[in-house]
Amino acid sequence: MQRLAANWRRAGVSIAFVPTMGCLHDGHLTLVRQARKRIGQKGRVVVSIYVNPTQFGAAEDFTTYPRTLKRDLKLCRETGVDAVFAPNDEEMYPGHRGTPSRRLAATQNFSTFVVEEELSQTMEGASRPGHFRGVTTVVAKLFNIVQPDVAVFGQKDFQQAVVIRRMAANLNFPVQIVVAPTVREPDGLAMSSRNRHLAGNLRRQAPALWRAIQRAQSLVRRSGSIPAPKLKAELKKLMENEPDTRLDYVEFFDPETLKPIGKVRPGTHVALAVFVGKTRLIDNERL
Ligand code: PAF
Repeated sequence: MQRLAANWRRAGVSIAFVPTMGCLHDGHLTLVRQARKRIGQKGRVVVSIYVNPTQFGAAEDFTTYPRTLKRDLKLCRETGVDAVFAPNDEEMYPGHRGTPSRRLAATQNFSTFVVEEELSQTMEGASRPGHFRGVTTVVAKLFNIVQPDVAVFGQKDFQQAVVIRRMAANLNFPVQIVVAPTVREPDGLAMSSRNRHLAGNLRRQAPALWRAIQRAQSLVRRSGSIPAPKLKAELKKLMENEPDTRLDYVEFFDPETLKPIGKVRPGTHVALAVFVGKTRLIDNERL
């Protein structure tokens, strides 16, 4: 992949990149279309498919994360992707035996990690210790391998996009980070590979996240300003209305700094993580 990218660059061809963990859905395909739009017909669009073990905690869903490579490749072909990079663990982390661990022990041949120390501390970072260390490490590696001019990320993982933008700026990666809007099912559920785990009754409860966001939007627009603890309590109550949902966190924050906000106003961002059965879903929007 690195050789192919270098050859393209030498020939003056630009590269747009969509990093994924596979099990592609319309949300990913929207990122691919956005990548094509940014780079034009003369450029190349690369998708990576890799379930990165270093961003999963030991008790998380690394082993059950859906893997559908054959179908993913077909979708990439149909959507006009020029190259798919789908490495294995040994290629990405030499010496690694596929054990998910947030503190993936340095192996004999892999002992370098990338850590963002400010924006990654709250929300997903607080709830999933070590998660962003895995994300920034693998994305830095992917940037070095694919050498993109533009990389497209989904807004569903809002904090991830902000952390990666900071990492790219701080470490001088010559790549423009683009964030594309969340794609939703007709009932508002944000598209996610993990939605595959939601059958019947659980699938019916999953739009609770979107309903919570909409409730916050309408309360904030109506009142102009609401204390964050009051709004948090309101959204927690909404989650408790469903038998199988459990709120992990809800946070109101400044979309640039990710700093928590005490008085929620229009323009404040909300993010929440919710267990629906055993499946953990996240969502966010501007209020
Ligand atoms: O958002 C994802 O799918 C992953 O976190 C990413 C960016 C591909 C890194 O593994």
